[in-house]
Amino acid sequence: MRKVIVAGNWKMNKTAKEAGEFFAEFKPLVKDVKNAGIIIGAPFTALETAVRETKGTNIKIAAENMNAKESGAYTGEVSPLMLKDLGVEYVILGHSERREYYGETNEIINEKVKSALAHDLKPILCIGEKLEEREANTTEDVVKSQIIGGLKDVTADQMANVILAYEPVWAIGTGKTATPAQAQEVHAFIRSLLTDLFGAQVAENVTVQYGGSMNDGNAAELIAQKDIDGGLVGGASLVPAKFTVIVKAGD
Ligand code: G3P
Repeated sequence: MRKVIVAGNWKMNKTAKEAGEFFAEFKPLVKDVKNAGIIIGAPFTALETAVRETKGTNIKIAAENMNAKESGAYTGEVSPLMLKDLGVEYVILGHSERREYYGETNEIINEKVKSALAHDLKPILCIGEKLEEREANTTEDVVKSQIIGGLKDVTADQMANVILAYEPVWAIGTGKTATPAQAQEVHAFIRSLLTDLFGAQVAENVTVQYGGSMNDGNAAELIAQKDIDGGLVGGASLVPAKFTVIVKAGD
């Protein structure tokens, strides 16, 4: 049975102090959540605080990116060994903002996915089409190439530790959420593609989150869709009370 997991992606927000303040408010609000998985993706500089403040709770911590290599002359980068040293368990990879602003290709992202798995980190692989790709009716082609490219050489067994996040780029940060029907249509396509790639049993157990202006007002209807297994939430994850509503919608 696949797990509903609601993850926050803080992006470039919250100092370590602000992260501590967030968890002080958030932890009591979600302490009774039993079924939904809860993850917070935080900036590198807040990860130590985030891991410390959530130790022994039902909240897991993700980094928002990582380098595929363990060490070396890569100024400004952070390695999987450094994330493991901090106690981080998940890592968001291939977010559309990294593809757009930092030129991350499917090949680069695939190296990061394989490295995360090799270092016992669980990747949250982001996929999704741009507005012009949707308008050109190429959504399924784009999502297929991102999944096949991003998961190249990943085994069926390793898929137990992979989360996918479908994030239509035109819905990210715009307040223009995909309708439940639009999202479900692509999630069903993703499920069928995973079946072709890894077999029905593996595909049925992969958590596929929706991301793109998910908020406390629309989360329940989105998560109620057959093939939507939670969310990857940006703006609404910055506010404890709002993010709690979304988490509980998945519980
Ligand atoms: O990774 C989640 C993010 O891209 C969604 O952002 O602000 O539209 O919820 P937002």
